[in-house]
Amino acid sequence: MIMRPLSFSNIRSLQSESRLQICRRSTQQQQRLMVEKQSHSSGVSESTAAIKFSPVVDKMQQLVSDDPIGGWKRCWEEGLTPWDLGKPTPILQYLHQTGSLPMGRALVPGCGSGNDVVTLACPERYVIGLDLSDIAIRKARELSLSSPQANYCSFQKADFFTWHPFELFDLIIDYTFFCAIEPNMRSSWASRMRDLLKLDGELVTIMFPIDDHSGGPPYKTSVADYEDVLHPMGFQAILIKHNELAVERRKGREMLGRWKRMAKTQSSL
Ligand SMILES: C[S@@+](CC[C@H](N)C(=O)[O-])C[C@H]1O[C@@H](n2cnc3c(N)ncnc32)[C@H](O)[C@@H]1O
Repeated sequence: MIMRPLSFSNIRSLQSESRLQICRRSTQQQQRLMVEKQSHSSGVSESTAAIKFSPVVDKMQQLVSDDPIGGWKRCWEEGLTPWDLGKPTPILQYLHQTGSLPMGRALVPGCGSGNDVVTLACPERYVIGLDLSDIAIRKARELSLSSPQANYCSFQKADFFTWHPFELFDLIIDYTFFCAIEPNMRSSWASRMRDLLKLDGELVTIMFPIDDHSGGPPYKTSVADYEDVLHPMGFQAILIKHNELAVERRKGREMLGRWKRMAKTQSSL
């Protein structure tokens, strides 16, 4: 993993390097995407070119597209949570354990059952998990209470798009939240990220699913989709690379993006 101290001068080289990595891999990745057709325990057939979702995902998609807020709550009520890994996200665990993530205050919007919140919580980092489902929040609280990190995290039932915290954050994590919201909400997502992060704070996105299926959630994403909405909000990528630690069924369709909220946007002159 490439990690360097951030400066304005190395942002551009990191971006070029990242783009090179992306380009070099794109043919190989496309080939892989075309053949990947895995079934797994959640019942989701996550192929890409000709993606076929399982009945569980079909039902989840129907509920959420009929009612983007109430639909998520219904999914939790009906136990339709095929996205849930049931364990911490390996790349986040790795970044935490290697001391690579900012300390201070962290936020995980759309935290679901809370595994990532608990994983990232430690005496130096207080993590808040946000979800609009009561059931998700209850499960997340139960998980945290059974962990040694209980004192370093908390959960709130709230809508990310309207929630106002008392203090801003040093770190925000997005995994399977960007792809969960309607694509026409992505600009609002980015402006919320800007408003919730401290200047110089970091946004970590695990970009998924990078493929070409239609419909959702999960809605397809690309690095350009993130750049399109984050750049106008003053974010610059400090790292974009393939997520080698993606869980097996998502391998080849995840990229890690680390973004800084800059004090000033860079001049194009
Ligand atoms: C695809 S799930 C991902 C959950 C978790 N990040 C994970 O990887 O297991 C999306 C989550 O976002 C929550 N959600 C959707 N819209 C939201 C919103 N506007 N505000 C807060 N949470 C939201 C849903 O209830 C759901 O738990």
